[in-house]
Amino acid sequence: MKITNSIYVLGLSGLVFLGACTASGDHPGYEYAPQMYNSVAYEPLNQIVDESQGSWLSTREDGKGEFFNSNINNPNRMNMREPVANTVPRTKDGALPYRLKAFELEEAAKIENPVELTEQVLAEGRVLYRQYCSTCHGNNGEGDGKAGEVVGGVANLKGGAYIDLPEGHIFHVIMKGKGRMGAHGSQIPQERIWKIVHYVKQEIQKQ
Ligand code: HEC
Repeated sequence: MKITNSIYVLGLSGLVFLGACTASGDHPGYEYAPQMYNSVAYEPLNQIVDESQGSWLSTREDGKGEFFNSNINNPNRMNMREPVANTVPRTKDGALPYRLKAFELEEAAKIENPVELTEQVLAEGRVLYRQYCSTCHGNNGEGDGKAGEVVGGVANLKGGAYIDLPEGHIFHVIMKGKGRMGAHGSQIPQERIWKIVHYVKQEIQKQ
């Protein structure tokens, strides 16, 4: 009985304690765990330039307030820097960002495969094809993969007009998806997609 009572008292005082945080009238309320609202990390949109803000709870080694989050070393106190003039960003694998939209197939068709065709590249393309494409298109590209049976309407890469698809077109379809096929651009780095394209052109479509 005693234990139940103390749990009851504890719960009640907890409620009273939390209730004191609520805002009402002129009282803005207390912030519980204020670090959740004013992140200590540098943020471009939430600049706290007053070095003493949050000093009452600061544990920082530089002696500044807990909430101070501006970068004093950069212009405008931003954490991000302006990109250097006349430079272009690169993706993680060193490629230029791919900016064509899903419907811009004609433009994509003009792009040439930047990866040199070698035995090694074909071997890698084969592994990647089996990882990412076989499930639907089948090991031989005939559209007979197990998952393809469920998806339905999978293209037979050896059939009809598909044989003549330009490499840039195939790259684009893998990047952006088309019709019932989903986009793979976020899963496969560009260089690897081009290797798959080599494999599709050289091995699957020439058999
Ligand atoms: C989840 C199943 C699935 C996966 C995985 C998949 N595809 Fe497809 N693919 C399809 C379907 C379905 C179509 C038919 C799209 C349509 O026209 O609706 C298609 C169409 C295509 C086409 C023809 C595009 C055109 O212009 O009509 C090519 C080329 C192709 N896929 C290559 C690939 C390659 C290479 C991979 C591996 C990176 C791959 N696909 C992975 C389902 C898949």
